[in-house]
Amino acid sequence: MQITVNGSPQQLDVDEDMPLLWALRDELKMTGTKFGCGKGLCGACTIHLDGQAVRSCLTPVSAAVGKSITTIEGLSENGDHPLQQAWIEHGVPQCGYCQCGQIMSAAALLSRNANPSDAEIDGAMSGNLCRCGTYPRIKIAIKSAASQSAAFYDAARTAEEAAS
Ligand code: FES
Ligand code: FES
Repeated sequence: MQITVNGSPQQLDVDEDMPLLWALRDELKMTGTKFGCGKGLCGACTIHLDGQAVRSCLTPVSAAVGKSITTIEGLSENGDHPLQQAWIEHGVPQCGYCQCGQIMSAAALLSRNANPSDAEIDGAMSGNLCRCGTYPRIKIAIKSAASQSAAFYDAARTAEEAAS
């Protein structure tokens, strides 16, 4: 079975029902995506499938065939996504465990809505839990990144078009 992760084709010899989270972490050794609950309840395992935020613990590998998978490792080339920069600027993480999932959910929001309201941020982030209670800083960082995100996604689309 072949899947495409962060733009690279990856060959997997696994059961097609294996959760994508397992395939990423255990087979492909991409450990940025975290295991939290394994039941779709915490958001730690959030990735993008064709640009949509999904829980990789609930997504069988077979559902990702033919689609574009993006993990935290591929969100930007040099850690320069506006959210990654805002996370650093605002010192968002505490223990850090939930943060990759938080950023992936926030990135899916900003890719379709560069100026989200408080309610839209709350709605998009409601499935991502943080035991350290970093929610206020997460919200500040999303708002801070929002103004930069339109330019980031425009540049990414231009680069994609030039490469195709
Ligand atoms: S590990 Fe997937 S939602 Fe918790
Ligand atoms: S920073 Fe510790 S769980 Fe979120």
